[in-house]
Amino acid sequence: MRGLSWQQLGGAVLLLLQGQVALSALSVQVNSKDSLANAGKEIADPMMDFYAQNQTEGIPGKLTDTWYIAGAMFMTLIQYWATSGVEQYNKVVSHDLMFQSGENYDYFSSNYSQWLGNDDQMFWGLASITASETGFPEVSGKPTWTSLARTVFNMQIERWDETACNGGLRWQIWPYQAGYTMKNSISNGGLFELSARLARFTKNETYAEWAEKIWDWSASSPLILTDKWYVADSTSNENNCKDSGNNQWTYNYGTFLSGAAFMYNYTNGDEKWLKRVNGLLESTFATFFPSTYGGNVLSEVACEPIMSCDRNQLGFKGYTAMWLAHTAILVPSTAERITPKLQGSAEAIAKQCSGESENLCGETWGKDTWDGMKGLEVQMAALGGITSNLMLLESKSPQTIDTNPDAAEHHIDNNENSSKDPTKAKPIETADRAGAWILTVMIAAGAIGAVGWLIKTQ
Ligand SMILES: *[C@@H]1O[C@H](CO)[C@@H](O)[C@H](O)[C@H]1NC(C)=O
Ligand SMILES: *[C@@H]1O[C@H](CO)[C@@H](O)[C@H](O)[C@H]1NC(C)=O
Ligand SMILES: *[C@@H]1O[C@H](CO)[C@@H](O)[C@H](O)[C@H]1NC(C)=O
Ligand SMILES: *[C@@H]1O[C@H](CO)[C@@H](O)[C@H](O)[C@H]1NC(C)=O
Ligand SMILES: *[C@@H]1O[C@H](CO)[C@@H](O)[C@H](O)[C@H]1NC(C)=O
Repeated sequence: MRGLSWQQLGGAVLLLLQGQVALSALSVQVNSKDSLANAGKEIADPMMDFYAQNQTEGIPGKLTDTWYIAGAMFMTLIQYWATSGVEQYNKVVSHDLMFQSGENYDYFSSNYSQWLGNDDQMFWGLASITASETGFPEVSGKPTWTSLARTVFNMQIERWDETACNGGLRWQIWPYQAGYTMKNSISNGGLFELSARLARFTKNETYAEWAEKIWDWSASSPLILTDKWYVADSTSNENNCKDSGNNQWTYNYGTFLSGAAFMYNYTNGDEKWLKRVNGLLESTFATFFPSTYGGNVLSEVACEPIMSCDRNQLGFKGYTAMWLAHTAILVPSTAERITPKLQGSAEAIAKQCSGESENLCGETWGKDTWDGMKGLEVQMAALGGITSNLMLLESKSPQTIDTNPDAAEHHIDNNENSSKDPTKAKPIETADRAGAWILTVMIAAGAIGAVGWLIKTQ
């Protein structure tokens, strides 16, 4: 749809002068399934090359220096497959997503469990429930995708912590990890979203009760301020959850928003959830679609303007875009407001994915030319952005047990003791940890003047 703009030509000439090959932008027509599906493939192919190169010693689904990102990538690829019909990645996704459920089918393999946080495990749960909702084929002789998601849920609710702040999930699972003494939005919002999606898929009321409980606790803490629909990043137990780390991240808003959308739909239109959806939606728009880029392009505003996003933060926008699409589908009254934001983002992604010889994507969707960032995470975010438009266009309702009975939930006996008793897990060197949100932790810690525990455990 778009030819080269004058700026892009200028950029191209500049890159040629620098001896690099510059490609034109990807072609993206936001109202064409074929166009979006092709753009998704152009983005996914190099992503899968990065994936293959970055696996740790060839272990399926284990990327060097991170564990959860592969799970988030599979979540994205499943949603892409479901809306584009492109099947070529399914074999790898199916095998590697199942493989990482580990020896106990709980996404808590003893290879990694000593340094995982709740949010790390949660992303694999979301990938699994995405498989169920999209009718991703089950693996014969293995637990259903829903059963894997259910196991993550059951392990996480066991960690619900009443010893500080009257509830909530801690960020980290083990006392020796930085982040054990705080409660954060992605862990609580992530479990909230997982609960809401399990409720809607299985129609098992236990999940809905937990979704209510997690929302209520979060909204009673500084994590969600419902007067201005503000979502903080974290709050500390030592201070009885009176303070907050206030960095603004797209995915914190996205998890609470999508969970509320699933609950709205599950409850067949409860006004309470509609109010929450609309509140979070408007603040998501106001915070993450800056006027600098015309107001319709998603931006990770806490780090993107100064190109300081770490590998985790580079991925957030992609998940958020897909969760916005879920919201538009499950809460039809929001679709008209969400559509231009996701379409504007896809058109921007098309221009940003013009790096090097493979149309590599950068991070700043709002910029007209490639910003020079490259890697698996930025490809994944761009694929999420394109996929969100396929979701809107297809407008398929996420499936439930009625339409996908193969994905029924079953109990998995996963030797839960080993995950509950920290003395059974030994601290290890943390170079490999997912802990990712270190920047955020430091900011949160700085804000409350309590860095002692950070220094102690790092
Ligand atoms: C755990 O590590 C072993 C040894 O490197 C490896 O063979 C196995 O595949 C790993 N399992 C998972 C789930 O990553
Ligand atoms: C509902 O979900 C809970 C939590 O996973 C589980 O314990 C219970 O057995 C489920 N109920 C049914 C009928 O499957
Ligand atoms: C739930 O989602 C479906 C699928 O998008 C939609 O048709 C239905 O209207 C939604 N329910 C409510 C109460 O909005
Ligand atoms: C692994 O990924 C990182 C970040 O995307 C990249 O810089 C690095 O070159 C990759 N390693 C290999 C062997 O491709
Ligand atoms: C879990 O711990 C309880 C109490 O110590 C014990 O009775 C039970 O056998 C343990 N279960 C497993 C699977 O280890």
